[in-house]
Amino acid sequence: AGLFPIGLVGCGTVGTGVVRILQSSADLLAAQAGQSLTLRHVVVRDLTRARDVDLSGCAVSDSLDALIADPSVQAVVHVVGGVEGPRQDIVRLLQSGKDVITANKALLCAHGDELFELARSLGRTIGFEAAVAGGIPIISTVCTALTANRILAIEAILNGTSNFILTRMLDRRQIYDDVLREAQQLGYAEADPAMDVDGTDAAQKLAILAKLAFGTAIPFDRIARQGIQNIDLQDLLAAADLGYRIKLLAVARLMTERLEVSVQPTLVRADRSIAMTSGAHNFIAIEGDAVGVLKLAGAGAGRLPTASAVVADLVDCVTGRAACTFQALLRLQQRNPLPLHPSA
Ligand code: NDP
Ligand code: HSE
Repeated sequence: AGLFPIGLVGCGTVGTGVVRILQSSADLLAAQAGQSLTLRHVVVRDLTRARDVDLSGCAVSDSLDALIADPSVQAVVHVVGGVEGPRQDIVRLLQSGKDVITANKALLCAHGDELFELARSLGRTIGFEAAVAGGIPIISTVCTALTANRILAIEAILNGTSNFILTRMLDRRQIYDDVLREAQQLGYAEADPAMDVDGTDAAQKLAILAKLAFGTAIPFDRIARQGIQNIDLQDLLAAADLGYRIKLLAVARLMTERLEVSVQPTLVRADRSIAMTSGAHNFIAIEGDAVGVLKLAGAGAGRLPTASAVVADLVDCVTGRAACTFQALLRLQQRNPLPLHPSA
């Protein structure tokens, strides 16, 4: 098989997961892609930092320049947090003729339209399966597998960190601050964990999903949202006594031609599958008018689950599937939008 050289920008939780999968599953990936995915450039911020992966076979730099200048690299995984820096990098990468894969939902909420339009005009693609619900393939499900459906509702747990906190506090009687620290150590939390616990991260993911599923562009900061910061063990125990769990639910629902969206802690009956979502797992119930309700559950954050989605996007770049999915996404975004419910 031939070689498919790739670039990686960011080598933290997700980036090291990508390197690990590329190395440990090289044969499987080559068989699926028809070419060997070869990591040629890695770009990081701090060249002195020890990495838990072997980067000896590639050029490691603290600048994008060598990667941009290498025409053999056709696809780049960009897994860096923040907004303005990643936006500038991705514009440069697209303009240099490379497909881009990102897991950055904050960036997509702020500049997704501009970046998608740039990619379209240059004949490139942007993959972002990992940006919503980590390892759960919800973007490809909405963009391709559910095309025969009018989506009626999404009810979901979209933030792994807050679900981890809620379940650990109840199951192990741990205190909030300790569990949050553990979520940070495990690589689940954002650099600023306030985004996880105040509902911002879930609202960003819901905004991305709602745009694809319903055609409605919702600035994430217009989604009515409330986080889990003020929930204490007494609240969780009181709910459990009544046969309920408290979950941070992200909901988008079609209401007579309007869309209602919210992110808030919600009482859910303990025997429902969404209530049983534990740890950093996510859960998505999505209802289509033809298929009915589909339920997807699994790891919504963390190194390998997130990298699983990123590497799937990479393989799609090699096989050409990324172009089909990206075209489907652009068509979905051009639908007549539904108005938001006035309360939003
Ligand atoms: P980390 O903080 O673990 O890693 C970020 C990496 O980016 C680091 O390697 C850092 O370099 C590098 N970096 C920072 N600034 C620059 C720069 N200017 N140029 C080059 N590299 C830079 O973050 P994560 O891996 O957790 O997250 C990355 C993205 O993925 C975020 O957008 C996040 O929201 C998203 N995401 C994360 C998930 C998770 O479970 N962690 C799940 C889904 C999405 P250095 O190491 O040298 O400091
Ligand atoms: N911080 C995010 C979470 C990572 O906890 O869900 C996955 O997007």
